[in-house]
Parts: sequence; structure tokens; C-alpha cells
Amino acid sequence: MGRDINLTVKLGGLELKNPVMVASGTFGYGEEYSWLVDLNQLGAVVVKGLSLKPKLGNLPPRLVETPCGLINAIGLENIGVKRFVEEKLPFLKQFDTKVIVNIFGYSVGEYAQLAEFLSSASIDALEINISCPNIKESGRLFGTDPKMAQEVTKAVCQHTHLPVFVKLTPMVTDITGIVEAVMEAGADGVSLINTIPAMAVNIYTRRPRLGNVTGGMSGPCLKPIALKLIWDIVQKMRVPIIGIGGITNYEDALEFLIVGARAVQIGTANFVNPKTSIEIIEGIQQYLKKQGLKDINEVIGTLRI
Ligand SMILES: Cc1cc2nc3c(=O)[nH]c(=O)nc-3n(C[C@H](O)[C@H](O)[C@H](O)COP(=O)(O)O)c2cc1C
Repeated sequence: MGRDINLTVKLGGLELKNPVMVASGTFGYGEEYSWLVDLNQLGAVVVKGLSLKPKLGNLPPRLVETPCGLINAIGLENIGVKRFVEEKLPFLKQFDTKVIVNIFGYSVGEYAQLAEFLSSASIDALEINISCPNIKESGRLFGTDPKMAQEVTKAVCQHTHLPVFVKLTPMVTDITGIVEAVMEAGADGVSLINTIPAMAVNIYTRRPRLGNVTGGMSGPCLKPIALKLIWDIVQKMRVPIIGIGGITNYEDALEFLIVGARAVQIGTANFVNPKTSIEIIEGIQQYLKKQGLKDINEVIGTLRI
């Protein structure tokens, strides 16, 4: 990596050696990709969403390709936070990259317990997935209601010293209200976007293409939507933003950074080319060199209107 170029970015209490991470649910627990990708080069690895107890996923089929992306209905299958710390984290810790743990629960109390448990683990930050229904109280998604988003973020922040990033769903009418609420609750920043609800049908069997009937859309079709939501936030406030959605190459990543994201996550593209994130880091460096710039921070939030 060229020493003359600074790629370090700061997001609240978290510093990354470069702004490129791999997104939750698309990179397993890191180990699965480690023979294909040099994890030492990544800004961070965000691991598959973890719950208090291990969770089985949905019935297959769980993935459908569309012309512009992927619909998944994995169902948040995971080994549970305890097994992650015992069996997966020691492997990840061998690498010179930050480890961000994505968590989800079905009540405020579950999120708090997850935060507390992970605070004694050797990890670098929490990413809280609030695209889950609050089964205990309302069944509504935590992420679509500013009050609930605030409550869950506050509970997590009160139970951890780790930097906290709140992962947002795009399924809201006003993203800035949610961002304000979670930042007020103590979050270090926000990551967006998560998938968009979607479905597909087999016309010959007249059956849904997913075992779960519906799933979450990811991939290139998300990019313009994610960029616009980030732009909505940037115009209103200054907060650390991690941009996610359909990034497949360094140009895509730079669009997010120019609009105002301080870092990016690569998701579905890992399934097409596992080395995408490494190529993006190299591409960003080349771009900076060609532009005569020495620091990625000279690009972040520089959209000319
Ligand atoms: C197969 C799959 C599994 C995912 N699992 C999770 C998860 O466990 N937790 C989470 O917060 N996001 C999860 N996501 C969402 C991604 O992290 C990301 O927000 C989304 O896919 C958009 O980025 P992309 O277009 O680059 O894939 C998953 C996405 C896919 C495709």
C-alpha cells in the first residue's frame, strides 16, 4: 500500500486504516473468505448478525438472483454470540483488521444483553441491526420508529464502552428523524442501508421463488437509493456515516465517499468476486494519486452542487 497516501478514516470512536469494510451476512465470520482474501488489508470485517441464542434460518430456497441484484431470505441464521466469541473470534483476531460485530435482538433487553456480553470480548465496535421486529412490545420494526430506535440504541450504549453504529433500514419516510434519534442516544454513527423487502414468483409453478415468500433485496439496484438517503442526512447534520448498498467497484465506493460517507461496506459483490473489497482499496488509491490528492479525507463529503 502506498505510504504517501493516507487512507485512515475516523468514525466517532473508531479509527480504520482504510474506509473499506465487508458487510454483515456476506462474509461469514471472516474465516470462510480468509483463503481467498487477505483480511489484513481490510479496514474492518463486519461479521454475520449474531443473536443471544443460535438461530436456524428459513427454509430453502433462500436466494434468488434478479437482473440488478439478489433477494435473500436467509433468516438471520447464526451460531449465537457465545459460540462466536469462543470459536470464531480467536481466528479473526490473528489479522490486522478491525472486527465489528453485528447484533440483533427481539426486545430492548436482548440488545442490552448482547452489548454487555460482547463488551468483554476483544472486538472493536458493535453494529446494531435494528431491522428486526420488537416482538415483545409491538411487533413493529425498531428501525422504522425513531422512539424505538432511540430506546434500543440507548440500551446498547449504556451496556458497552465499544463504539456503536446503528444499521438503518431504508423503509422509512424520513431517515433524518431516525438518525437524530440514534445519535442523541449515544451512537458513534450510522450504517446504511440494509436490504429492501422484495419477492419473486415462478410463473410455471405459480409459487414464490423463496421458501420464505419474501426476502431482502441487495446489490447494484440499491446504490442510487442509498446515495440519496445519505445525501438527505448529510444536508441536515454532520454524523459519521458508513455507506452500504450495491457497491461493486472503486467508482461506486467513491460516489458514497464524495456524497459524505466516511467509510463503505461491500456486501453482495463479495459473492461475485470475493476480492472486490481489496480491488476497491487499490482503486481508491490509484484515483487519489491521479487526482493529485494525498488523503482520502480530502474527498469525503465534497459533492459539488
Ligand atoms: C445473504 C445476505 C445476508 C445478510 N445478512 C445480514 C445480517 O445478518 N445483518 C445485517 O445487518 N445485514 C445483513 N445483510 C445486509 C448487508 O449487510 C447489506 O446491508 C445489504 O446487502 C446491502 O449491501 P449490498 O448491496 O452491498 O449487498 C445481508 C445481506 C445478504 C445479501
